[in-house]
Amino acid sequence: MDVDLNASLKPPPDRLYGRAVGHTLRARQADLIATLLPQLRWPSQPFAIASREIWLEVGAGGFEHAQAIADQNPDVGLIACEVFANSIASLLSRLAPLDEPGATIPANLRVYDADARILIRDLPDASIGRVFLMFPDPWPKARHAKRRFVHPATLDSVARILAPNGEWRIASDDPTYQAWVEQVFTASDRFKLLEHHRVRPLDWPATRYEAKAIRAGRFPHYWSFGVKA
Ligand SMILES: C[S@@+](CC[C@H](N)C(=O)[O-])C[C@H]1O[C@@H](n2cnc3c(N)ncnc32)[C@H](O)[C@@H]1O
Repeated sequence: MDVDLNASLKPPPDRLYGRAVGHTLRARQADLIATLLPQLRWPSQPFAIASREIWLEVGAGGFEHAQAIADQNPDVGLIACEVFANSIASLLSRLAPLDEPGATIPANLRVYDADARILIRDLPDASIGRVFLMFPDPWPKARHAKRRFVHPATLDSVARILAPNGEWRIASDDPTYQAWVEQVFTASDRFKLLEHHRVRPLDWPATRYEAKAIRAGRFPHYWSFGVKA
């Protein structure tokens, strides 16, 4: 246990990420961000389906997981949040392959290209059926614990937006973060553990980050938490 939740954990920083660019975007990536992203951007572009539920992915990275979830659940609307333009550009490149004319706009996948916490703050109570947090940035140093997405303050805001039977799925390969998830959720009166796996369940799509972690000899954990009644 690296931080005493009651005594020393600082609140999350007030400054929320805006849109971020890592490496300089190549011309095609910049073009896709300028022309294709606006056609997928939440909330200005609503889903093109009558969704049975809305689900949310935080930190979609290369969007492999988000695309698979959207494909497997055509009657669900998925909002995938990602702050890095380069990562969003990898999704856009797959939707608009160079050798094909035009682009495919998935009916049930939308992109929120800013800090997920801003979106969560603005979402209505009990409006989301599932939240996915796949391999969040681990921030392994104890003094950076306040930057971890799993944080007592975030648990309260996610509990607020989840529907009564809602589920929060989390995966992490980082030992510090794994212990942290256990610690923060055990201390929470908002969530109960539904499942805990050491092998990825079949209906959890793989991500690029996970493949890298396993190649490097790390062992992911997969949890599913439900809202307490
Ligand atoms: C370690 S990567 C994992 C990406 C992906 N989930 C995967 O498993 O391959 C974490 C991602 O979360 C994004 N991220 C971190 N904090 C975020 C936030 N508050 N809102 C939206 N995205 C965030 C980062 O930009 C990064 O792409």
